[in-house]
Parts: sequence; C-alpha cells; structure tokens
Amino acid sequence: MDQSTFEDRKTISAPMHASLRHDSAHKHVTGTADYIDDMPEPEGTLHAALGMSDRAHADILSVDLSAVKAYPGVVLVLTGADMPGVNDISPSGCHDEPVLAEGKVEFHGQAIFCVIAETRDSARRAARLAKIDYRDLPHWTDVTDTLAHGAALVTEPLTLKRGDAEAALETAPHRLKGQMRVGGQDHFYLEGHIALAIPGEDDEVTVWSSTQHPSEVQHMVGHVLGVPSNAVTVQVRRMGGGFGGKETQSNQFAALAAVSAKKLNRAVKFRPDRDEDMTATGKRHDFLIDYEAGYDDEGRIQAVKANYAARCGYSSDLSGPVTDRALFHADNAYFYPHVLLTSQPLKTHTVSNTAFRGFGGPQGLVGGERIIEEIAYALGKDPLEIRKANFYGLPGSDRVLTPYHQTVEDNIIHRIVDELETSSNYQARRQEILAFNETSRVIRKGIALTPVKFGISFTATWYNQAGALVHVYQDGSIHLNHGGTEMGQGLFTKVAQVLADAFQVDISRVKITATTTAKVPNTSATAASSGSDLNGMAAYDAARQIKQRLVAFAVEKWGVAPEDVAFVPHHVRVGDALIPFADFVKQAYMARVQLSAAGFYKTPKIHWDRAKGMGTPFYYFAYGASVSEVSIDTLTGEYLVDRVDILHDVGRSLNPAIDKGQVEGAFVQGMGWLTTEELWWDGKGRLRTHAPSTYKIPLASDRPKIFNVKLAEWAEAAEPTIGRSKAVGEPPFMLAVSVLEALSMAVASTAGYCQCPKLDAPATPERVLMAIERLKARKEG
Ligand code: MTE
Ligand code: MOS
Repeated sequence: MDQSTFEDRKTISAPMHASLRHDSAHKHVTGTADYIDDMPEPEGTLHAALGMSDRAHADILSVDLSAVKAYPGVVLVLTGADMPGVNDISPSGCHDEPVLAEGKVEFHGQAIFCVIAETRDSARRAARLAKIDYRDLPHWTDVTDTLAHGAALVTEPLTLKRGDAEAALETAPHRLKGQMRVGGQDHFYLEGHIALAIPGEDDEVTVWSSTQHPSEVQHMVGHVLGVPSNAVTVQVRRMGGGFGGKETQSNQFAALAAVSAKKLNRAVKFRPDRDEDMTATGKRHDFLIDYEAGYDDEGRIQAVKANYAARCGYSSDLSGPVTDRALFHADNAYFYPHVLLTSQPLKTHTVSNTAFRGFGGPQGLVGGERIIEEIAYALGKDPLEIRKANFYGLPGSDRVLTPYHQTVEDNIIHRIVDELETSSNYQARRQEILAFNETSRVIRKGIALTPVKFGISFTATWYNQAGALVHVYQDGSIHLNHGGTEMGQGLFTKVAQVLADAFQVDISRVKITATTTAKVPNTSATAASSGSDLNGMAAYDAARQIKQRLVAFAVEKWGVAPEDVAFVPHHVRVGDALIPFADFVKQAYMARVQLSAAGFYKTPKIHWDRAKGMGTPFYYFAYGASVSEVSIDTLTGEYLVDRVDILHDVGRSLNPAIDKGQVEGAFVQGMGWLTTEELWWDGKGRLRTHAPSTYKIPLASDRPKIFNVKLAEWAEAAEPTIGRSKAVGEPPFMLAVSVLEALSMAVASTAGYCQCPKLDAPATPERVLMAIERLKARKEG
C-alpha cells in the first residue's frame, strides 16, 4: 500500500478485538510456514534415533552395542554414561527421569541409547541391532493393577477439604457411590517432536526445538551438557501443535541432539518418526475416579467425596500439578457444601504422562459431571435441572466457596446456560428426542447441555510471569519478541495486535519474531492457556515504556504538556500538529531517545498454599456451555454427532476469529478424547496404539453436522486483563462432555431412562454397545 493513503486512514488495521486472520494462516495452508524440519540443514548435519527398551520393567544386565556401532553410516552411539553433565531431565526436580536409562528400565519404549548417523534411515536401522540382556521385574501398567500392587506414588498427593463430607454423607436424604474410568489421550500434534542442535564455539550451542517451553529446554540442555544456561540458546518460530505434549517432552530430544552435536562438532537433527514419538513421549493421564455424593430430593448436592487415581507413568514429570488440577476442577461449576477430594498420582510402568490441554482439569470435571448425571437418573429428572440447582451462587450468595477456599467472584454460568438453552432450543428438542426414542427401534438419540468453569493461572504461582522485548526501528517498523511460543493458537497474532493498538499503527508494521531464550529469559511454558494474558501484558508494558519516553521527548522538543501528546492512528498528535508515526520516531532517534524496552508482567492477586489446600490459585474463571445432540445405532454402537451449539466466554475477545477457532478446535479435540481416541497397552506393557492405523483421532467427517459456535459477546473479564479478554486455549476442550452425556442419554433410552448408563470414557462404539447390552441384561434379569 502506498505510504500516503496508508497514513491518511483514520483507523488502523487489526487493532485489539478485531477479527484478524492468524498471521501464518496462509502459510500453514500453502506449506510455506517454516517448521524446524523445513529449515536448510547446516552442512554435514547428522541424524539421531532412539534405542528403546522392549521390557516394561527390568534390570539391564548387559548392553552390547557393537552391531549398532558397526552399522554403515553410524558415527556415534550415546548411553547414559556419556552425558557430560547429569543424566537427568526431570522437570519436577525429582531426579527421576534419565535422558537414557542406566541399570534398569521402567517402561516399554524407554530410551537406553541413542544412535547418531549420517542419515536418519541408518540411525533407525542401527538402533534395532543392540543386544540387551534383561532380568525382568514385575510390572503393572494400569491404575487398577497398580492399586493392587501397593499403589506407589510418583509425587505427593493433594487433599482438598471443606466442611465435613463424611458426616454430611451420613445425614443426606439420598446417597450414591460409583466409579468411573476416564481414558488418556495422545497429543497427535501434526508436527512431531524435533530438535536441531548447532554447535558453537567454546561451550556454546544453539538448539532449535519444537517446544512450548524454550527456557526449560535451555536449562535441561545446560544441565545435561554440564554448562551454564548462558551457553545455551533455544529457539522456536512455531510448532505444528503442542497441546501440552511439548511442555516437557521436548527436553529429551533437545538434550540428545545437543550432547552429540557438541561431541562431534557437527549439527545434529533429531526427528523421531510417529511410532517412536507416540511410544517414547508422555500423554494425557487416564484416571480411575471413585466418588460418593449425598443429595436432597431436589437433587441439591450436600456432600461430595472423591478419589482421583491417575496413571502417571514411571516418573513424576508434571503429574503433581496435573493431578492437583483434576481436583481443582472436580467441582466444575457446582457448589459442594461439604467436600473431600484426594488425588493418587500412581507410579506405573508406562511412559511418563504429562500435560495435555486442560492439564488434568478435564478428567476432574468429567467426574463432577458424572455425579450430576447419576443424581438426575436416580431422581428421574433432566440432568440440566440438577445442574442449575447446584451452580455456584452469584456474588453475595453463601454458595460461592470452592473446595480450595477461593471465592468465585465472577460467576456468569447462569447467564451463559440460560442464553444457550434458549438459542439452541434445548427444551423443545429434548421433548422431540424423547418422543423420537419412543418409536424408533434401532436409532436412538440423546441430547445434553453441560457447563464449563475453568480456573486461569498456573497453580505454581511463580510461573505467572512473562517478559517481552520490543524495538522500534528508525523507520518506524516494530520488532516484537516475547517469551510465549506459537503452536497454532494465534498467540503471536494477538500479541502483535496489542502492540499495534498501543502504538496505533497497522499490524503490518509489527514484525513477529521467533521465540528465543537470548532475547527474553526465564520464561514459563506457553501453557495453562495463559499465553496471551501474560505475554500480551508484557508487550503492553514494553510499549508503555517506549511511549513514555516518546512523550517526554515531544514535551521537551515542542514545549507542550504531556496531555497534549497522543498516539492516534498512524500519527502522533503533538499539540495541534499531526506527525506521521515514522517521522516522529525518526526525530526521536535523532534526539537519542532509547527506542527499545523490555516489558514484564506478573499476575496479581494469586497465591496458593498446597500443604493447607487453601488459597486463591486462579486469577479468574472462564465459562462456557455446550449442547450436543447425537444418534446411536443400538445394534452396532456406532454414532454420529448431529448438532452442537456452544456459547463460550472469552471476556472481550482479543481476536474473535482466532478465539472461535480455538473453541471449535478444542471442542473437537475433546470429543476425540471422550469418544474414539483409545490408548491400549498389552500384557507386556507395550503401547499397541502407536500410529494413526490403531489410534483414531476425529476426522473432518466426524465433526458435528451442525456446529453453531458463539462467543459471549457481552462478556468482559472482571479483572484488568489485557483488553479485558480471557484465556481461551483450554476451557472449551471440556465442552465436549456434552457429547459423552448425550451418548449416555441415547443409551439410557434403551432401558426407559431408569438407570444411569455410567459410560466410561472414551465411549467408543464398542463401549456404547456394551453399555446397551448391560442395561438390557439388567432390565431382563
Ligand atoms: N491450539 C493449537 N492450534 N495448537 C495447540 O497446540 N495448545 C492448547 C491451546 N490451543 C494448542 C492450541 C493448549 S494445551 C494451551 S495451554 C494453549 O493453547 C496455549 O496457548 P495460549 O496460552 O496462548 O492460549
Ligand atoms: Mo497446555 S496442557 O497447558 O500446554
């Protein structure tokens, strides 16, 4: 666009709250967005592959790598003993996660050695040639087995307690008790893990890593190499999806690439193939939930007692905070007058499970929703009625205290649910479905409306900080860098909007740059949905500092009052004069004004005392609700999601187009988790679902046939967040619970709705069919 017309416009393109496309959308769809594997390889780049255990739990008696080393093209074979620093990449500080196993293996697929070769193919073929002698030890891979074998834990469990749940259960008019299994999930990012390490002089190394947590990769690579963090630079322009799977799981690939690159003084690229990635990296935790609830004739909950046992895998990784968050969301949107919640983070002989969208919250929430559903079936009521009877109260009510003693101050769930109930025509459709099911023999339908309330902030309080680095160049163009990472969620676009808005320039003036530990240090993982809250604020702070200096410059140069200097579209207004932004910046440069600033932000208000189980761990809550309608074939268990309506709260959206995309994507991913995605380990502890051939993520054809997604446009964050927006990345994942419950209703119809089908997740067609058969048997028996 020609400069003069550009400067004449009265508004800027894509300010905050505008529906701008993702900055890389066109590059994603045309294949021109650069991922790490697309970067030109440095001359002589070598490739790596893992040598993995084929035992679930065993002592390693001997390792013979001679055939591996002799394989054509192999340059180096690393074992745990070859780590120059420590052989540990435990993100929890528990020192329970070796880069390469030494002495014993604790899961089938654990890395024992790493092959570096001239080609990826050589490395992979050579990796299969090791001769390893084991002495097998007893192993247990799932929750039930582990509970039966001493129930060892990988980390400290958590208890949340308020009131006296035991006593209240005793005196409640009705009481129920049940158990639910909730499955895990593979992240199935389209771009798998990858690291490219390029050695530098002295102790230096640069690692390009597909990671949500560059600072942690930096620190881990430093520890493993035995060099300080300042020798290691970690960079990432974008990931092809992370979903929590790249919060800690990138460490191993980055560390191995860096160690071999330094040893050989050649660039090393580590890109596991899909099977290797799925076998060697952690997933969503699956849970066994034991619950009890007491309630009255209206379905009002009086007490809840629940235990959340999780398959954590062989090491702690993030299992502590993940199982904590399960408890934080066991209440979902409901007030429990008396409550006792416990977590059981179990050590299993499987890959170490990790973060996944919602971070344990979805598993916690599903348990809470199961209690509601059971009450509804027991009382013969619509579950929605029970939900409404149990919602947290509005401010001022005596029903606002969570199990962790935080007061819910921003509750909008009533309005969200009421509006959605109306807009989706829920009541009439439910009546139609009940009528349909009366006469339909094979096909049965179900409908459910479920709410979401999700706490925003890292529960580890110190993670709630962020930095940004902003440069304004002499020509008025702006360079933006911050600690957040881009994984498709649109963070970079949103933060660029914040900056464009602050300076009142077009977004095209803002250059979005790769995340690097060299520009912004000590960052947190881009996780807990907090990316735009934290980094948006940090960038805003950097802009504020530069603007302050520019205003002081104008005051001095033109002798105006500070109030007479304003940033207006494409210009700075100084008194009555309108100076084009670029000209103004040039003059400031000539006057030696510093045009660069490091911004910083830390979330106020929050605190958390884990030992007491008390505090205000969340800055605010995000809310949403969904209505799902499904049809099942009662002869085969197959089903379709016919229609979904969503109303979701993102506060004042920074970018409604991107936020809507997040809501849609999260919902479909949640639907996959609760319906078709099933992880299966065999008796040897071997993950048999390690490729798309055996692990079914939702296809385009599985999406809801009608999909009405709306943001609650009236919503606004009660706290001063960036632009009064709210986090969006994870909360809508849990909207998919309405699919599970709609399936449940369709199943229940086969037995006159008098029993809660208690579907475990994922509700695969097999499970739906078995539930129908079970209900039939119970009815006949
Ligand atoms: N969206 C896309 N397209 N790809 C992803 O990997 N990750 C999700 C969510 N949305 C993800 C995504 C997860 S797990 C989180 S925590 C947030 O994005 C992180 O980004 P944010 O904090 O900037 O929202
Ligand atoms: Mo998201 S699970 O917090 O990376």
